[in-house]
Amino acid sequence: MTHRSGIIGYGHMGSAYHAKRLRELTDCVIPTAAFDIRPEMMKNVVEDGLRPCSSVEDLLAQKDIDIIVVATPNHVHKDLSIAAMRAGKNVICEKPVTMNAAELEEIIAVSKETGMQFAAHQNRRWDGNFMNVKSIVESGKIGTPFYIKHRIHGSGGVVYGWRNDPLNGGGFLMDWGIHLLDRTIWLMREHKIVEVGAKVHNILSRADDNAIVNITFDNGCKLLVETMHYAFAGEPLWTVHGDKGCIVIPDEDTPGNVTYATVTGERYADDLCYREQGPVTITSRVLTETYKTEPLVPIGQSNFPNLWQRFYENYTAALDGTEDLIVTPEQSLRLMKVIDMIYESSRTNQSIHCLL
Ligand SMILES: NC(=O)c1ccc[n+]([C@@H]2O[C@H](COP(=O)([O-])OP(=O)(O)OC[C@H]3O[C@@H](n4cnc5c(N)ncnc54)[C@H](O)[C@@H]3O)[C@@H](O)[C@H]2O)c1
Repeated sequence: MTHRSGIIGYGHMGSAYHAKRLRELTDCVIPTAAFDIRPEMMKNVVEDGLRPCSSVEDLLAQKDIDIIVVATPNHVHKDLSIAAMRAGKNVICEKPVTMNAAELEEIIAVSKETGMQFAAHQNRRWDGNFMNVKSIVESGKIGTPFYIKHRIHGSGGVVYGWRNDPLNGGGFLMDWGIHLLDRTIWLMREHKIVEVGAKVHNILSRADDNAIVNITFDNGCKLLVETMHYAFAGEPLWTVHGDKGCIVIPDEDTPGNVTYATVTGERYADDLCYREQGPVTITSRVLTETYKTEPLVPIGQSNFPNLWQRFYENYTAALDGTEDLIVTPEQSLRLMKVIDMIYESSRTNQSIHCLL
């Protein structure tokens, strides 16, 4: 079935991505109409060949549209998503889906009440670097991960515009951290989160510009997520340590490599241990291992390593009943609860114990 979308907020994401780029990548949704509170943006709507609407209400009244895309600053995501579902439309809402977990709980209640499908646009689950990490971890090649480090480091100046305003849901954690946390927590979805500790800094910005987050899962795996706008010596985007190997991806443009142990033989050897009664000889099995390093094969379009259209293809397949939704509201709620704990931990200088 063909689906038609109406876009609320025709800024960078609304126009360049949800309207234009999507048309080049997939035909599962036809961007059809749009509304933006700024008149100058409405000129672009017309130039791009979309139907201009005079208000949110006007857009929601368009009968041929079954999906509303919310691509505004973050503080209005909740009210716009709820209004759209109450008008009988399914919703794709930009990330961060809301300002906190309580707001998302309201959205989920309306989605259940109206039967309208709701999902957060976590398109970066389809970034080439993450797809490589996920497929290698799930293949077992590096064994069981025990320490995952996922970072965005830069020195790009002050966080600007509404992203520098806490009232608009700004901050580098909500802007980029939300992607890093979404995909790492999803990667570890078989495990509960038992501890969250974080420090969120405002070094030069009103909204946070540097955040350091530590998460512990119930199997003992540690996750470090850093979103640092002021890091003058960058560290790798990904370092994933497993008990049989390690993945390192330096940055978004460099595919990186995986190093893993291969067992080439075994022998039995005597060795000394020290007990209360004195030195004892222990015979143990010793594996002869060599380490292999392989380059990762880039995934996605050659000039832009991602497959972001898969988000839309899955969203519409879920509407058509042919696939389960990949980015579920329940996963987004877990993520927003972690975000709440990050700010709370930073404010109180205490780690938070939980079972999430
Ligand atoms: N998924 C991604 O990879 C990704 C990338 C960038 C931004 N985003 C998200 O997309 C959203 C928009 O970001 P952006 O970079 O496009 O911002 P932007 O400032 O370029 O565009 C936002 C637009 O929303 C309009 N707007 C504000 N309030 C409105 C309202 N009440 N009704 C209608 N229009 C309204 C503004 O006039 C503006 O044109 C944010 O939630 C952001 O976090 C997602």
